[in-house]
Amino acid sequence: MRFLFRPPATEAAALLHLPWDSPLSEWDPSVLLDVPQRGISRHVVRFVATEGRVYALKEITESLARREYRLLGEFESDGLPSVSVLGICVDRPDDQEAILVTRYLEYSMSYRHLFSSPRSQHSTSQLLDTLVVLLVRLHLSGVFWGDCSLSNTLFRPDADGLTAYLVDAETAERHPQLSRGMRQHDVELARERVGAELLDLQFGGLLSPEISPVDVADALPERYAALWDAVTREEVFRLDEQRYRVAERLQWLNELGFDAGEVELVHTPEGARLRVDTRVAEPGQNRRELLRLTGLEVQENQARRLLNDVRSHRAWLEQKEGRPVPEAVAAHRWLADVYVPVVEAIPPHLAGRLAPAQVFHEVLEHRWFLSEQAGRDVGTTAALASYLDHELPKTPADQTTPSVLASPGGASS
Ligand SMILES: Nc1ncnc2c1ncn2[C@@H]1O[C@H](COP(=O)(O)OP(=O)(O)O)[C@@H](O)[C@H]1O
Ligand SMILES: [Mg+2]
Repeated sequence: MRFLFRPPATEAAALLHLPWDSPLSEWDPSVLLDVPQRGISRHVVRFVATEGRVYALKEITESLARREYRLLGEFESDGLPSVSVLGICVDRPDDQEAILVTRYLEYSMSYRHLFSSPRSQHSTSQLLDTLVVLLVRLHLSGVFWGDCSLSNTLFRPDADGLTAYLVDAETAERHPQLSRGMRQHDVELARERVGAELLDLQFGGLLSPEISPVDVADALPERYAALWDAVTREEVFRLDEQRYRVAERLQWLNELGFDAGEVELVHTPEGARLRVDTRVAEPGQNRRELLRLTGLEVQENQARRLLNDVRSHRAWLEQKEGRPVPEAVAAHRWLADVYVPVVEAIPPHLAGRLAPAQVFHEVLEHRWFLSEQAGRDVGTTAALASYLDHELPKTPADQTTPSVLASPGGASS
């Protein structure tokens, strides 16, 4: 038997005691974690937890395992949204298939939950756009997915939005660049699969009645084409506007999570022609800023929201104390006096349903909502209590994070 692991080796070492020489389907339930099936899957997939971290194990032929291991590793290095791979186990006894080990994507939600819950605040079109953004990002990086489906995508709440992650790269191919035909083929495969998955939910009585599987699936190619065009098109504008228009375009790309590589501006008789070499950005400015100020690691939109709250807390402190408060001081006080009390108020039975930063964001939203209704500011304490009683319990526990992540010492802190 042989293991190939990406660093850090200490993380991999914690998995070595598992019964790698037996078929995954026969592993004793005591070593496995009960994570509900979230989509259509071809292989035996099981979950294990060690030292507070959760891993997904997939039994798959060695050649496919090696390829998926290599590709997922590349995706991660390139900042593409995908699950993170830890390693593979090959040369198992009796010619058994290999096992691919990925890190469980914490706080991810299945499409089943997102499409079936009538209370879900994410609209169908938002879900579809999230998937389309993922596909465009992959295509810009020369990745042909070959199996884009809802089952192979995990969705993570990020403030008001969602981010989609690729979970299954078994059929993926990496090219220096994708031809139009390949992109179209990939989109067509996605359309078929998404349609079939939604029909399946509908047959099972799990689809919200206002959603039409065919309409949703058919909208996918159009939305893809619109986004692809928007991020790759050439623009021509008046010379006296060029400075502002270039800045505007780059800003817009950044907001969508894309970055500009080379920017080419050519002056022609019609005006300035702008061509941007759009790349996938690890959306990061707000994340880095929040990490620097508070040590919190969260997603980009969550970070933007939290930073706004840090800023307003600072303004409030300055007003109260009648003197300037340095940013770092304000951030630490915000963390201790505002953020941590909210996170610590989450009762154990509700912990782990959403990332702490997402809970914080939702409490702020809820406060705004209650204040609007009441015609006055209800305050964070009341909003928090109401949110914990009425809103957070609506997020099903096992759809998001295996309970072990929420246990003390787990990775959810
Ligand atoms: N790292 C992971 N984090 C969270 N869920 C995962 C992870 N890996 C797999 N899964 C879940 O297991 C399912 C099956 O995994 P997948 O790689 O798609 O296998 P298959 O080849 O059988 O389709 C996925 O749809 C996803 O719900
Ligand atoms: Mg799959």
